[in-house]
Amino acid sequence: MQPKHKLEMKGISIEFPGVKALSQADFAVESGEIHALVGANGAGKSTLMKILGGAYGHYQGEIYFDGQKVDIRHPQDAKRLGIDVVYQEVDTALIPYLTVAENIMLDVMANEMQGKHFIRWGQLHRRAREVMKQVGIQLDTSTLVENLTLAQKQLVLIARALATNTNFLVLDEPTAPLSQTETEELFRLMRDLVANQNIGIVFISHRLPEIFEICETITILRDGRVVADTTIETLTQQRLIELMLGHRFDETYPKMPVPIGETIFQVEELWEEQGRVRDVSLTVRAGEIVGVTGLVGAGKTELCKTLFGAYPIRSGQVRLHGKPLKITSPHAAVNQGVTLVPEERRKEGILVDEPVYVNLTLPSLDTFTRGVDFVDTRAERETARQLIRELGIRTPSENQKVAFLSGGNQQKVAVGKWLITDAEIYIFDEPTKGVDVGAKHDIFELIGQLAKRGKGIIYASSEIPEILGISDRIYVMYDYTIVKEFDTADATEEDILFYSAGGK
Ligand SMILES: Nc1ncnc2c1ncn2[C@@H]1O[C@H](COP(=O)(O)OP(=O)(O)OP(=O)(O)O)[C@@H](O)[C@H]1O
Ligand SMILES: [Mg+2]
Repeated sequence: MQPKHKLEMKGISIEFPGVKALSQADFAVESGEIHALVGANGAGKSTLMKILGGAYGHYQGEIYFDGQKVDIRHPQDAKRLGIDVVYQEVDTALIPYLTVAENIMLDVMANEMQGKHFIRWGQLHRRAREVMKQVGIQLDTSTLVENLTLAQKQLVLIARALATNTNFLVLDEPTAPLSQTETEELFRLMRDLVANQNIGIVFISHRLPEIFEICETITILRDGRVVADTTIETLTQQRLIELMLGHRFDETYPKMPVPIGETIFQVEELWEEQGRVRDVSLTVRAGEIVGVTGLVGAGKTELCKTLFGAYPIRSGQVRLHGKPLKITSPHAAVNQGVTLVPEERRKEGILVDEPVYVNLTLPSLDTFTRGVDFVDTRAERETARQLIRELGIRTPSENQKVAFLSGGNQQKVAVGKWLITDAEIYIFDEPTKGVDVGAKHDIFELIGQLAKRGKGIIYASSEIPEILGISDRIYVMYDYTIVKEFDTADATEEDILFYSAGGK
């Protein structure tokens, strides 16, 4: 059993140009506990943890390890104290063209290689396998990381942290890309680390039921300040949301009554080239929100991508207003009125190095073009400002680079830009991933407005309450095909789970 440790951050403040991300924040975590860090998008959670991980040197305030003042200004300083942070941006933290074993052993190698010039590959894979066994991942250590799912990448990152001596492990929204089963696996691992290895864990998540399931203690941030620091059992979910948002909030689904029209979109016996979509038929009516649900890995994303022309169609028919479409590429799909808000925002959804307004108006740039190629940037910025208000995107201005926004605010940009395009069919793939409860509400409202304008909406999500809350009709997917259709009024969570799990 390792000795008990205590980590304290006191009076932490940090600024970025135009943004005071944290003011006088206090935070403490001990070995053997799972401590929740909660707050709305942009509240400062990731920033506080980045400071702890040594990613920022320019903060004010003090950090104590077992009562001793320590100076954490670089990642090595944190590492030396056994503090490991698994950042929100999983993809950028791994090296895609290296193997699982190499990625896991990256920090160990960096420590041990100093002055040496050769690597014992056999030993490297064996040690990586040992760590993986401890974490409970079953993966071939020679697989390239680029071929892993997000869930697997997450586990590789945790394994990498545990490959070196770890006292504190910070997990920044680890469950956002995970299925329910994967989440349960992760929770089992977290409980094990806390109980048997006396590690202290900081857990960040926007899924509040998870917080109540796995954490004992909690710190709530609002606008860069700590508004509560307490034990979970003193809080209800309602109270937590109030503290987080600073006002009362009713966590219901804003489903507007929208008249549903004729069928406008028809998919018949659709097959994707490699069988990633198998024999899918579906319809969408004007003003209708059609939910597509199923477990992570059931083929929802694949279906969305195929309908959008990002995966090749082997056979089948797609019609809009009765007219057959030729969906040969995303460009062709957009030109024919079909648009997709993709799941992996960093890779596909946004240009991180461009300002917010450019990102928000990019897909509808033609509406801002006067004459042949003169873009009316004034109108462009005005529209962007309006979207920023409607979606509550937290940014100093429309000119901020998207890279500087918090994870959830990037997601709002990725979703927001499609809301002003003039498509007929909008496909949303998990649009609320990593988005706080207040912002979710705003996104649902905007989707409702699209429906009101007579658009057809396909809403793919594995969050069943969400699907039940906003859709009119539901398709359940299993093993790359649709296995069940419900009118939402007739569906229950149990029914959907039954078919999602392959029930017949
Ligand atoms: N490098 C940076 N440059 C400029 N602004 C930044 C930078 N990093 C963070 N910010 C700003 O600081 C604030 C806090 O961001 P942070 O990423 O900590 O939020 P968060 O609580 O993790 O939100 P989310 O739930 O969306 O991930 C945000 O307004 C963000 O835009
Ligand atoms: Mg964050």
